[in-house]
Amino acid sequence: MTDGESDIVHRLETGPVDALPDLWVDAVVSDRVIDPAADRAALFAELFRVLRKGGRLAVSDAVSDVGEYRRLLQRAGFVGLSITLAEGRPAVVEARKPDACTGMVIRPMRDEDGAQVLAIYQAGLDTGNAGFETTAPSWEAFSQGKVLGYVAEDTETGRVLGWVAASPVSGRCVYSGVVEHSVYVHPGCQAHGIGRALMTTFIAASEDRGVWTIQSGVFPENAASLTLHQALGFRTVGTRERIGRHHGVWRDVIFLERRSPAVG
Ligand SMILES: CC(C)(COP(=O)(O)OP(=O)(O)OC[C@H]1O[C@@H](n2cnc3c(N)ncnc32)[C@H](O)[C@@H]1OP(=O)(O)O)[C@@H](O)C(=O)NCCC(=O)NCCS
Repeated sequence: MTDGESDIVHRLETGPVDALPDLWVDAVVSDRVIDPAADRAALFAELFRVLRKGGRLAVSDAVSDVGEYRRLLQRAGFVGLSITLAEGRPAVVEARKPDACTGMVIRPMRDEDGAQVLAIYQAGLDTGNAGFETTAPSWEAFSQGKVLGYVAEDTETGRVLGWVAASPVSGRCVYSGVVEHSVYVHPGCQAHGIGRALMTTFIAASEDRGVWTIQSGVFPENAASLTLHQALGFRTVGTRERIGRHHGVWRDVIFLERRSPAVG
């Protein structure tokens, strides 16, 4: 369990987890054996969803096939698995949600990534809170003028999990170190630290190339993006009120920037 008085611990015997928000609890515990009829794969997926990064699972359960039980936990994304069997008693199962991504590499974006990058882009746009565009462009239009592009790749499957890319904001020499970026993570992989890992790599790479300011506009409704950027040193320059129309609605945009402490 994590230290501190504010830990949120959910006991399985007090109620189901499906009503809880994502990334909500520090620990899920249960003294009683989980309902034998429960679909373990679905349950573990839900527990993984509601746990915060680094959150703990500690339950007792009737485990007949340890190998299969471990696979179910792993498939849901848990790490640090421990299954302790004892004669005549239920097993004690412990696991945790990773506090950083495992099984992933961040690498430069390539033309072969085009279809996956654009599919992830479209899925983000479809949320209605990622950008003013409604349709992802062609790969040619997308890649034109991009100065930095990285993808997160699943090391096992080779699948692209997310991307970050930037373009210069101006052709004027005085702004040569100012870029505007976008970051998109596959909807099935969000809130697993991939956005943070992409952004961390991107910020370091941009500084290596002499970029001194990274900017971006974020809808106020996009809590995940605001949290991510603020955590990485972006500040709010201001709110641009009703700056553009999206599906017929005038929307505000929060203008963010990160001034490199290392460049210039
Ligand atoms: C915004 C986005 C890129 C973030 O990437 P991600 O991989 O989901 O985010 P991470 O797991 O790296 O989490 C980054 C931070 O945001 C927080 N966060 C993640 N999802 C959140 C949510 N739904 N609500 C609030 N905070 C959230 C995390 O707790 C984390 O903060 P911490 O590191 O201080 O704990 C991703 O959600 C996404 O692709 N959304 C759709 C497209 C989009 O909106 N792109 C941005 C356009 S401006």
